[in-house]
Amino acid sequence: MRRYLDTLLAANRVRIVEREVSGQFELAAVTQASQRESDAPLLFRRVSGSRYPVMTNIFGSRPRLTKMLGGNTSFCKRWMEIMATPVIAPVDVAEPNDLEEIRLSDLPPVTYFELDAGPYLTAGVYLANEPDTRVPNLSFHRAQIISDTELRVRLGGPHDLTRYQAKAEARGEALEVAIMLGPPPELVLAAAAPIPYEESELEVAGRLAGRPLQMRRCRTVALSVPAETEIVIEGRLLPNVRRPEGPFGEFLGSYVPVGDNHVLEISAVIARRDAIYHALVCGSPEDLRLLELSVATRVYQALLAAKQRGIIDVACTPNILSTVVQIDQLYEGHARQVMLTAMGANHDYNKSVLVVDDDVDINDFDDVWWAYLTRGRADARALVVPDVPGFYRDPKKDFFGRLGIDATVPFGRKDEFLRKRIPGAEAIDLGHYLAR
Ligand SMILES: Cc1cc2nc3c(=O)[nH]c(=O)nc-3n(C[C@H](O)[C@H](O)[C@H](O)COP(=O)(O)O)c2cc1C
Repeated sequence: MRRYLDTLLAANRVRIVEREVSGQFELAAVTQASQRESDAPLLFRRVSGSRYPVMTNIFGSRPRLTKMLGGNTSFCKRWMEIMATPVIAPVDVAEPNDLEEIRLSDLPPVTYFELDAGPYLTAGVYLANEPDTRVPNLSFHRAQIISDTELRVRLGGPHDLTRYQAKAEARGEALEVAIMLGPPPELVLAAAAPIPYEESELEVAGRLAGRPLQMRRCRTVALSVPAETEIVIEGRLLPNVRRPEGPFGEFLGSYVPVGDNHVLEISAVIARRDAIYHALVCGSPEDLRLLELSVATRVYQALLAAKQRGIIDVACTPNILSTVVQIDQLYEGHARQVMLTAMGANHDYNKSVLVVDDDVDINDFDDVWWAYLTRGRADARALVVPDVPGFYRDPKKDFFGRLGIDATVPFGRKDEFLRKRIPGAEAIDLGHYLAR
């Protein structure tokens, strides 16, 4: 992560905040204000109550994520290309000599939203081994900070870590985990991705990095983490213990109420001497782009598996309840077929599926909606599928139902809808024109 941040710093792509900010709301508020006008990462040099600087919005841009994979246009296509390359296993290395043991309370205490129960860890990548096979899994889980020795962790129903914990718990055992803040970026991408239960997500991260990950042993749990990780929290998810966690301002824009969630007992916190802490604002572009990675790659895979042709890319704009598929239209009704396959590919989140042509920016919902409004009838291109259940956490059925939108140009009439453009507009650098 440090190397990646340094590259962005060298290219002047990082917004730097020198002024001291409070971790209580101010850091999140500044991040939100910056994200409204720019996708640049932010580096807060001074956060009150801690000696550690804070980075945020590193992953808050789809073009940046695509570039991170060495691609330039279709994120999903590039992802699939990498997943088809041979596995790269991690290697063991000695513990670097710049590590030190700290307390959790040495880290910046960041509280994000008004009614949050208190400071939360939001960017922690959890590493754990399957209790029988020892296959490693990576995943994100928010955690409420209770004390130097306790976190309350949300393990959502369908996730691998939840299954590992249940398996260990059935034997009366705790599950060892390492929570990484600022691991190599490839681990963050692998943690967000939908990887089959049986596959090692560390090997997937190796594939993404194109080199073996260099792993050091943890000090108090039987796990190894990438040696260059900024901060590692070691601990155990306790069996048969649940305690109140929340409320917390979640990615859908409202609060998840207090619920009884898992308890993690911290056994050590190990940090690089000059560590940088990663804070992620839930529901912000950084969160949404990582969540998108999971849903969009799954839908893209399903479209290819169903032998749909002309698929260019899939995005989830404005958030993962909405899937946008970009196609090269090949025949009358192509968009509708694609829409139906995409709807069936993901029963949790596909509340709407929109299909657009290759000249529409799928990362910009304004552009997607413009295509629907300007390229044909509103009525004949919308499809409502009633009463299909959605998101698993939905007792009141608010996520039921599906909406499909064909926002493509009527087949065979592309010339009539040619997008206007200003020659040279893409190359304009305003810095060369504006006085200030
Ligand atoms: C930033 C971020 C935060 C997340 N927070 C949680 C969380 O608090 N609880 C949860 O169950 N899942 C959370 N998720 C979703 C899972 O971590 C993610 O879907 C992951 O791919 C699960 O992998 P698995 O199914 O292989 O275990 C989060 C995802 C992201 C990107």
